[in-house]
Amino acid sequence: MEYQNIIVETLDTGVGLIRFNRPKALNALSPELMEEMAHALAAFDADEKVGAMVLTGNERAFAAGADIKAMANAGMVDMLTNDIIAKWEYIHSVAKPIIAAVSGYCLGGGCELAMSCDMIIASETAQFGQPEINLGIIPGFGGTQRLTRAVGKAITMEMVLAGRFLSAEEALAHGLVNHVYPVEIYLEEALKLAAKIASQAPVAVRLGKEAVNKSFEMTLREGLQFERRVFHMLFATEDQKEGMAAFVEKRKPQWKGR
Ligand code: CAA
Repeated sequence: MEYQNIIVETLDTGVGLIRFNRPKALNALSPELMEEMAHALAAFDADEKVGAMVLTGNERAFAAGADIKAMANAGMVDMLTNDIIAKWEYIHSVAKPIIAAVSGYCLGGGCELAMSCDMIIASETAQFGQPEINLGIIPGFGGTQRLTRAVGKAITMEMVLAGRFLSAEEALAHGLVNHVYPVEIYLEEALKLAAKIASQAPVAVRLGKEAVNKSFEMTLREGLQFERRVFHMLFATEDQKEGMAAFVEKRKPQWKGR
C-alpha cells in the first residue's frame, strides 16, 4: 500500500515508527489516514524485526480529532452503516506494544487514539481534550470510557461536557501520560522507551500487554487467574530458560522469541 497520509519507518532498534502527515489539517484523522494507519500497524505487528511501535504527529498536533469535514454532511444512517469508527478498532487487536508520542493538540479522536495506545509520552506543549460537545456530539471512540478509567469521573465530565483541555502537566498528575519532556526530546524519549521494550523477550512482552489489558475487562479473580496461566505458559518458552540461565551466569540474555 502506498501511504499518502502517514510516514512509516522501521528503525534498527526494532521500533516501527508511524507519523501522521496531514500538517495543514492538524493531522485530522480522515478515513484514508486511519486505513493507512491500520495497514501499517498490521505490517509492523507481523514483522519479526519490530518489537514495539511509536505513533506520533508533529510538534503542533498529534491529531486534532476525527476529520470534521469528512463527517459534517453525514446522516445518522450513513454513520451507522458506514461506521467509520468501527474501522479504528483495529488498533485494539495489535499484539505488540504501541506508544503514543504526543505534542500539541491531542483532541477528540486524537485523544481517544492516544488512549488506545499502551503508553503516552507527552511534550510540554501537549493538550488533551474531548471537545466534541462544541460540535453538538459526544466522543465516539472511547472518550467517555477510557478517559474516565484514566483520570476519573470528575475531570472526564468537565472535559466531555464543557470541553475543558488538560495540559501535559495535568495529564501527568492524573495518570493519563507516562512522562512529560521538552518538545525537543519527547519523540526521542518515546523511541528510547520503545527500543527498550523491543529489546525484551517478545513473547513475554506480548503476553504482558494482553494481561494488563485484561484488567479492564475482567473481574479481579478472573484477571488473576488469567495472569497465573500466562505466567505458567511462559515456562514453556526457550526465552524463559535463557533469561533465567543468563541471570544465574551473570550475562546478557539472547532472546529468540521462542
Ligand atoms: N477536522 C478537520 N479539519 C480540522 C480539524 C478536524 N478535527 N481540526 C483542525 N482542522 C483544520 C482546520 O479546519 C484548519 O483548516 P483550514 O486551514 O483549511 O481552515 C486547519 O486544520 C488549522 O486549524 P485552525 O485554523 O482551526 O487552527 P487553530 O490554531 O485556530 O485552532 C484547534 C486549533 C483548537 C485544534 C481547532 O482547529 C479545533 O478546534 N479543531 C477541532 C477539534 C475537535 O473538535 N476535535 C474533535 C473532532 S470530532 C471527533 O474526534 C469524534 C470522535 O470522537 C471520533
